[in-house]
Amino acid sequence: MRAMKVLQVSAEIFPLLKTGGLADIAGAMPGALAAAGCEVRVLLPGFASVLADLKDAQESMELTAPWGQSLVLRRGRLASLGLTAYVIDAPQLYRRPGGPYEDARRRPHADNHRRFALLGFAAAELACGLDADWWPQVVHSHDWHAALANAYMAFSRARRASPVASVFTVHNLAYQGVFAPESFADLGLPVNAFAVDGLEYHGQVSFMKAGLYYADRITTVSPTYAREIQAPEQGCGLDGLLRVRSEVLSGILNAVDESVWNPARDPLIAAPFDARRPAGKVLCKAALQRELGLAPRADAMMFGVVSRLTEQKGLQLVLGGLDAMLERGAQVVLLGSGEVALENAWRGCARAHPDSVSVHIGYDEGLAHRIFAASDVTLVPSRFEPCGLTQMYGLKYGSLPLVHRVGGLADTVVDSTLEDLAEGRANGFVFGEFTLEAFNRAVCRAFALHRHRLHWNRVRARAMRQPLGWEFAAQQYVALYQSTLNSLQ
Ligand code: ADP
Ligand code: GLC
Repeated sequence: MRAMKVLQVSAEIFPLLKTGGLADIAGAMPGALAAAGCEVRVLLPGFASVLADLKDAQESMELTAPWGQSLVLRRGRLASLGLTAYVIDAPQLYRRPGGPYEDARRRPHADNHRRFALLGFAAAELACGLDADWWPQVVHSHDWHAALANAYMAFSRARRASPVASVFTVHNLAYQGVFAPESFADLGLPVNAFAVDGLEYHGQVSFMKAGLYYADRITTVSPTYAREIQAPEQGCGLDGLLRVRSEVLSGILNAVDESVWNPARDPLIAAPFDARRPAGKVLCKAALQRELGLAPRADAMMFGVVSRLTEQKGLQLVLGGLDAMLERGAQVVLLGSGEVALENAWRGCARAHPDSVSVHIGYDEGLAHRIFAASDVTLVPSRFEPCGLTQMYGLKYGSLPLVHRVGGLADTVVDSTLEDLAEGRANGFVFGEFTLEAFNRAVCRAFALHRHRLHWNRVRARAMRQPLGWEFAAQQYVALYQSTLNSLQ
């Protein structure tokens, strides 16, 4: 059987450009799909780090954006991923100070609708044969940045020699890419697309809605989130459309890239360890305490947080519960960046408790690994969480996750209740209500289990052995691609 040709379209990809979990998934999925028998290429915007990694440029294709600008689409090999990539070389759009979506003062770029419409447009052109040597059978786009691919593909179907499936994955429904109505004129889509039955959303242009409305299949990153977004509370205004499309919507749980996240072979941590030989974890804790200037207490229960600092992540519960945790002898280590008020609140905590609280504001891949390796508990009390990766990294590194029962957190963590401990299912701590009281009770359960070292060690070993690799998710994506193609024949 010939390999299925899949084009992955995303704004970020680890290790070249990352602001969150989307990059981890976009970086791991091509390899996982290849192992499951697909031939995968990626399409990316030409951010500086991506272009710099593009080696052996093989082909350049001319492209005219819908608003008339001429650009070049380069095909080559991404050296760090060993992957064939198409990269949109448009320095006027992508080579700027600041992040991929915002300028250095954290304001969204004024022409973001063009910068990301182009990503979808280039995907649809590839689906129509722009590269005569390689036609994708499936175009798989991720989040609002790539969502217009689905609209362009729906309108260009007649130009394609054989049907190409469009699959759209929602990583976070809260970020929708909504733009002023005037931006529609730039997109080059038929006027009837700017309607309720299209990408119009309360008089604005919504890229997210384009993905949800026009894709052949929609997935999101956990089964529970797939259900949650069909109800108003987490539907972010799009639950109605998602209910209408529920037959083509499914949840496929994210997985862990074990070539990056594996404590037995992680060059970024102080000592290797695994479920059978956990001793290295003690050394990792001591090393991190030294590095961060915390009291060198082997017995301190260490809580780790690696997170964007936004309302979504629910860290106000940790701030609220902090004093009680410290009174019980905890150490708390936080690595994150985001909203200024939250950054300042956390800096204040570190100043007040220098021996027991360490706060690093910024982005640091190595420190993230060292925190999972050193800590006993990974805190992920998110208000909502489509999937969440840090609780899975916590499991792999024997740092038991303490989470709110939502989205992918509910699908990956089992509370240490007496029943679940007895039946060998428990792997962390889960609270149901998003209240300080419920959070505090989960923290108490963590302390209680920690006092019984034998039980703790047993739960930790089980957590570290839990299968979290990509094989199952990749199989589910391949089955979905195949059934989408069958439905288009
Ligand atoms: P989200 O995508 O909503 O931010 P996830 O849990 O899916 O949440 O993924 C977050 C990813 O970003 C993880 O790989 C985590 O380790 C990483 N991360 C978050 N904040 C930082 C930071 N300040 N420094 C390094 N890595 C970070
Ligand atoms: C988003 C979500 C997160 C998910 C990640 C990768 O950023 O917030 O829950 O794990 O995408 O799918």
